[in-house]
Amino acid sequence: MEIRAEKPEDVTAVRKVNIAAFKRENEADLVDQLRGVASTFSFVAVESEQIVGHIFYSPVEIEGECADNLFILGLAPIAVLPDYQRQGIGSLLIQHSLKECDRLGCKAVVVLGYPEYYPKFGFVPAKEKGLRCEYTVPDEAFMVLELENGALDGCSGTVKYRFEFSQFE
Ligand SMILES: CC(C)(COP(=O)(O)OP(=O)(O)OC[C@H]1O[C@@H](n2cnc3c(N)ncnc32)[C@H](O)[C@@H]1OP(=O)(O)O)[C@@H](O)C(=O)NCCC(=O)NCCS
Repeated sequence: MEIRAEKPEDVTAVRKVNIAAFKRENEADLVDQLRGVASTFSFVAVESEQIVGHIFYSPVEIEGECADNLFILGLAPIAVLPDYQRQGIGSLLIQHSLKECDRLGCKAVVVLGYPEYYPKFGFVPAKEKGLRCEYTVPDEAFMVLELENGALDGCSGTVKYRFEFSQFE
């Protein structure tokens, strides 16, 4: 299993992974719209030369109090082909890509997702760090991970995803 940055020739396979995992086109469309936008990052999991998993990050803004120019990313979407799920591929994608985000200067990552899944990677409810989701979601489903200790000290406000997300509310 190899985790690596997405390449231009991966685009069709990445779309297929998202459609197969989510059983709809919304997430695949979102990735296609965001790809190439500044500060977006895309990684794939490759097994036997087949793309079996994908993870994507895009920049978010905090509306409220926060240090200027704090680089925060939103993790979304993550997808693993149904036949390959529950074998640790999603975990590998998250762990590897978080290290890359850190290396790229990102200070914190937010995610809206399963509250049972993300805490094992260090995510905590974003509310504990003073952050709210712009969408109406259960508190425990909106989580954040500081990649630099204390990066969110003094922060409070609403996390805003890129406008492309709003079409899928
Ligand atoms: C979520 C997803 C990316 C996880 O990838 P994965 O390779 O299956 O993950 P791992 O093997 O590393 O971890 C498996 C764990 O994921 C969690 N998980 C997977 N699917 C889940 C679901 N539908 N609901 C809750 N938790 C889920 C469980 O904690 C599971 O652990 P378990 O097998 O002990 O129950 C994958 O299941 C997927 O593509 N799902 C469809 C798309 C999706 O829902 N994306 C996430 C939106 S937040």
